Parts: sequence; structure tokens; C-alpha cells
Amino acid sequence: MSIAKTLQERKSTRAFLDKPVPRSVIEKILKAARHAPSGTNTQPWKVAVVSGEKRHALSDKIVAAFQSGQPPQMDYHYYPQNWTEPYKTRRKECGLQLYQTLGITREDKERQKEQWLANYRAFEAPVVLFFFMDPVLEKGSFVDMGMFVQSVMLMAVEEGLATCPQASLGEYPDIVRAALGYQDEVLICGMALGYEDKEAVINSYRTPRLDVEEFTRFFE
Ligand SMILES: Cc1cc2nc3c(=O)[nH]c(=O)nc-3n(C[C@H](O)[C@H](O)[C@H](O)COP(=O)(O)O)c2cc1C
Repeated sequence: MSIAKTLQERKSTRAFLDKPVPRSVIEKILKAARHAPSGTNTQPWKVAVVSGEKRHALSDKIVAAFQSGQPPQMDYHYYPQNWTEPYKTRRKECGLQLYQTLGITREDKERQKEQWLANYRAFEAPVVLFFFMDPVLEKGSFVDMGMFVQSVMLMAVEEGLATCPQASLGEYPDIVRAALGYQDEVLICGMALGYEDKEAVINSYRTPRLDVEEFTRFFE
């Protein structure tokens, strides 16, 4: 598959088939993704691949933390504390698109909460990946991590798999670290990985993008 096609085919997928992903396929994905570049070849990525019983037990713990009212707290600020334009509107539209696809109204806080909770269950994907990096590293390594995470997602497409990168899976980092035996590694994000349920309505929409002219200036 061409890179252009793979880039277009990748989309955030939020419903999966109940079909296991062979470990050999995950290894193949990671083997390719490790070729992602990183400043001075630091290769900051550490990956936890969680499936089976452990995966469900971990989801249960995260859901329980959320439901007990424990405030979510990522290891770093993924989003701004105060939203400004144009990001405020884009963010709002992103949420609206999801709710409209599912027929969830603005007033239906119960279903909104239910849908949010699905995040902590990684949308029932058979595999959940967690991406960590060493805390001694700096902001530059976040750039490297992003490139690695995208490489994983593109390779997944090539293997007929679907993904959803999830900041939400980084909202209770202490629980994830304790469950998986990590010490003080920074939890960058999680990722749902599995075979797309193509019948699921939630997977039926695509998000828009700006035109190239809107974010590019050519200096010639
Ligand atoms: C690092 C990262 C974290 C994200 N976290 C979540 C998340 O917690 N839950 C979710 O449903 N989508 C999450 N997304 C998916 C974005 O909403 C999605 O990428 C965006 O709307 C563009 O849509 P697309 O991925 O289908 O092209 C995340 C994306 C990235 C890159």
C-alpha cells in the first residue's frame, strides 16, 4: 500500500471485532515502527502491549478510578489549560461529529458519559498499547514519541488492523504503571489496536482537514 493511501486509510477507530491479534503481527508492527527517527537516535519509546485478562483487569481499574470521582491527571498537559480559537472550535466540532454520528444529543449527559467511559475500556479493542518514555528526557522526545506512535498506526493499517490513539488512557498513569510494573516512566498515551468493526456506526465518519494553503506558506 502506498504511503499516501496508508495515511488516508488510518483513522481513529472506536469499535473492534472480538478477534485476537496474533503476537507475531504486533511484533512485526513494532519492528517496523522502531525505524522512526529520534533526536541523536535516543529511541525514547517504551511500549507495553496488553491483552487478555490483564487488559480487562486494567480497564476495570481505570473505570473504577473515574467512577469513584478520582480526578484524571496525565503526566503532562496534553491540552492547553485555557482553550482559545481556532482550537476551541475545532475541538468542539470533533466532539459534535462523534455525538451526531451516534445520535447523542447535547442534553443527553448520561450517554455522553457512557461514551466517554468507553475510552477507558479502549473501545473493547483486543489489544491496548501504552507508550512510555524516560522522565529524564525533554520535550524533544515527545516529538520522537509522536513519530513512533504514528509509525505504529501506519504499520497497523498495512497489517489490516485499526487503531485509536488515546490520551484518555494516560489519565490515570499511576494505575497503569502499578499494574504493568513501570516505575517513573512518563505515560505518553495509550492506543486501542484490533480489527475494525466495519458495521459499527461509530466508525462510519471521517474527520475533516484544513486545506494545505490554510496552514502553509511557501517562500520561494
Ligand atoms: C495523541 C492522541 C490522543 C488522542 N486521544 C483520544 C482519546 O482519548 N479518545 C478518542 O476517542 N480519540 C482520541 N484521539 C483521536 C483524535 O480525536 C483523532 O485523531 C482526530 O479527531 C482526527 O481523526 P482521525 O484520527 O480519525 O483522523 C487522539 C489522537 C491523538 C493523536
